[in-house]
Amino acid sequence: MGEHINNPVPVVAIVVAAGSGSRLGADVPKALVPVAGVPLLTRAVAQLAAGGVGEVIVVAPVEGREPFVDALADAPVPVLWADGGAERQHSVAHGIALLPDLPEADADAQVVLVHDAARAFVPPEVVGRVIEAVRAGADAVVPVVPVSDSIRELVDDGSTVVDRASLRAVQTPQGFRRGVLEEAHWMVAESGVAVTDDAAAVEFSGRQVTLVEGSRDAFKVTEPLDLLLAEALVAQGRA
Ligand code: CTP
Ligand code: MG
Repeated sequence: MGEHINNPVPVVAIVVAAGSGSRLGADVPKALVPVAGVPLLTRAVAQLAAGGVGEVIVVAPVEGREPFVDALADAPVPVLWADGGAERQHSVAHGIALLPDLPEADADAQVVLVHDAARAFVPPEVVGRVIEAVRAGADAVVPVVPVSDSIRELVDDGSTVVDRASLRAVQTPQGFRRGVLEEAHWMVAESGVAVTDDAAAVEFSGRQVTLVEGSRDAFKVTEPLDLLLAEALVAQGRA
């Protein structure tokens, strides 16, 4: 009993970093792009560790691995490496395949996060909220923020307004009971559907997704303008 109350199994984060960053258009893969001299990947892993993650599985491009390894040479937690796939969901699946062997009961209950390396400034409080919600019994947990733009949906003959108040933008890290994540990705792979995030995979598998409060600071570095924001955050000591 006691060993389950103080479950020693560390929280693992799968950090997907195998994209090219075509919209950013930098001369290195996006995860290696420095902000104030420190690569996004290095920053992302530090934020996860500060939020309670005990181990990371980094999914990186197959070619040119050396600078990725260098970026995490002084990582605050142990690092395992997985090979990137053609789409994000394949990269996540490669990370799942590297989850450690554990006794079945421990494995099923282990908390696993999936995080975009490009969300390098996620506050530790958001990481902690996601972990706590999984520990409290949720199958899948997603940090979200309100949508600030007005939104219009394109339809056949024009466009129509969408009620922004009922919309939320989805961030990472998303958190799961390991058994739930493994089952969801297995079902997605079997069926051949495309999913844009892991919570969508879990929903496809017939389970509930729980929302927690995200943060504007957990924005995904996507376009050149995002790097200006990132530099400003660091200059102001917010990261
Ligand atoms: N990612 C991945 N494997 C892929 C595609 C994306 O690991 N085949 C990762 C990226 O490295 C990123 C995260 O998924 O950390 C979110 O993807 P996105 O922001 O779209 O990054 P890129 O695909 O690299 O950027 P772009 O779409 O502009 O090329
Ligand atoms: Mg992409």
